[in-house]
Amino acid sequence: MPTPPTPTVELTPAQIAEFHERGFLAIPNISPPAEVELLRGIFDRLFAQKAGRAEGAQFDMVTHDDDDDAPQGLPAIINPVNFAPELRATVFRTNAAAIARQLLGPKVTAAFEHAILKPPRYGAATPWHQDEATRVDANFDYEQLSIWMPLQEATLQNGCMQYIAGTNRGEVLPHRSPKSDPKIHAIECAGKFDPADATPCPLPAGGATIHHGRTLHYAGPNATDQPRRAYILAFEVPPKPSARQRDFYWNRDKQTAGLDRKRQWRKRGGIVIEFVRKLRGGLWRQPGRVVFEARRAVRALLKRAG
Ligand code: NI
Repeated sequence: MPTPPTPTVELTPAQIAEFHERGFLAIPNISPPAEVELLRGIFDRLFAQKAGRAEGAQFDMVTHDDDDDAPQGLPAIINPVNFAPELRATVFRTNAAAIARQLLGPKVTAAFEHAILKPPRYGAATPWHQDEATRVDANFDYEQLSIWMPLQEATLQNGCMQYIAGTNRGEVLPHRSPKSDPKIHAIECAGKFDPADATPCPLPAGGATIHHGRTLHYAGPNATDQPRRAYILAFEVPPKPSARQRDFYWNRDKQTAGLDRKRQWRKRGGIVIEFVRKLRGGLWRQPGRVVFEARRAVRALLKRAG
């Protein structure tokens, strides 16, 4: 897949204004059909092989995920590009980076990426949440967005994205583990909102929704006979330490099997692989990101020591 030197999409001023006003935007095309077809094949391979499972990078978001062979409700892979380097050079990536710059300015950098599968009949719902609420360290100021692309049509029946407009301009609401069970990876919003206010965003394959890190969102279960695959690229302005104190206590108590696998893998030398991957991903070219990564590491160490 050759990377296009220049993006093939550009948001209009009206679309940019809509994003900042409502917190989300849907566009009909971010990746050409041939690329989407290739990506479908790559995703099906990565999920079938359970790529990254041993290092905690593939896990089920809604079950205890402690049995390698148990059926999964909502499997996800963090940074699938680490297991399929061909994902590095896509039209999707070039276009997504250009859109992120248009919306968050020239300082924006790639943050992470996510592959999500909703298995046919019945891949689980993705609970209502704000992405910023998943950050482990609440005491940074975050300015982030996610670009969500379905690899087949996304409909209400197979779990398209749904948003509550305007929540991007509010605060991070309280969240909790589903069923108050910290062994489940996902979080769900426990704050006050009305799901009846949701705007569903059905999309063609290779279209995209773009949402801000504060925008409350949800995706329903997959009730169809076909898998629902989505590829998400997240971008952010490198976060700076915040003057105000916040506590995302719902993340503190998490005890998932995936986190255990990640800890074990890091102890066995995975921490070196993680560092090499960050360098290969271009970290050294992004001074703002290097500073953020260093600050985050120091804060995590201090917290552990204290
Ligand atoms: Ni999300």
